[in-house]
Amino acid sequence: MGMLNLGKKKTAGPLNREGTIGKDLDFSAAEAYKRLRTNLMFSFSGDESCHVIGLTSSLRGEGKSTTSMNLAYTLAEAGKRVLLIDADMRLPQVHAILKIHQTPGLSNVLVGENNGANLIQPSGIQPNLHVITAGDISPNPTELLGSRRLVGMLDSLKPRYDYIVIDLPPVDAVADALIVSKLTSGMVVVVRQNYVEKAVLENTITQLRYHKANILGFVENYAEDEGGYYQKRYYRKEGYYRKENES
Ligand SMILES: Nc1ncnc2c1ncn2[C@@H]1O[C@H](COP(=O)(O)OP(=O)(O)OP(=O)(O)O)[C@@H](O)[C@H]1O
Ligand SMILES: [Mg+2]
Repeated sequence: MGMLNLGKKKTAGPLNREGTIGKDLDFSAAEAYKRLRTNLMFSFSGDESCHVIGLTSSLRGEGKSTTSMNLAYTLAEAGKRVLLIDADMRLPQVHAILKIHQTPGLSNVLVGENNGANLIQPSGIQPNLHVITAGDISPNPTELLGSRRLVGMLDSLKPRYDYIVIDLPPVDAVADALIVSKLTSGMVVVVRQNYVEKAVLENTITQLRYHKANILGFVENYAEDEGGYYQKRYYRKEGYYRKENES
């Protein structure tokens, strides 16, 4: 089916952003991202020098930005040169989470008003991780993402990075993710648990396939603190890993 299922990746963190990114992650969440990293590293062929990974979901709020950032972070931690691009130009988040500048960013390059100067920012959380933020809010993101400029931009960046991770909008309402999927080596679909209806997720997969996207796999994400049950599961998991490491 051309589809590799990454299995369940359970991440954990409080509802505010604290503890959900980079080195602030708790042990079990950091381990989950490392497993995702390993799975992805093995899903690419050796003849591609830079792998472009797009992250999307069916709906808003499933954990795309969190997962994009942590995937990018964990790849950088493994010594890879990584570029994270915030291509969710409708509701950009990456700059706010990393506390870096929103502008200049992707939209400014795509409208042709920035030639790349000051475009790439250090992430501030990992030296190997660089970031292109979303830029000024544009009225026509879909059109911009479909422009030849994006192709040219990615081609010029590929020689400088081992991985380019692209945080995209969800598939439900706009074509942005589907359009960009054509430019990626593969797509990761984030699925928030107990949140998205099966039919909606199936539609997402159908649409990605229709656009001939290479679906690398699915990341199952907890996006909500589910009280005692959630905490219990989470601590049990951490205990499990500790035990495993000690033996
Ligand atoms: N595993 C998790 N555990 C707890 N909270 C999480 C988890 N993943 C994401 N969150 C929280 O859920 C909210 C939505 O996550 P995020 O912004 O990553 O989703 P998104 O899919 O990018 O959303 P949007 O569609 O609005 O861009 C954030 O407040 C984030 O901190
Ligand atoms: Mg987001």
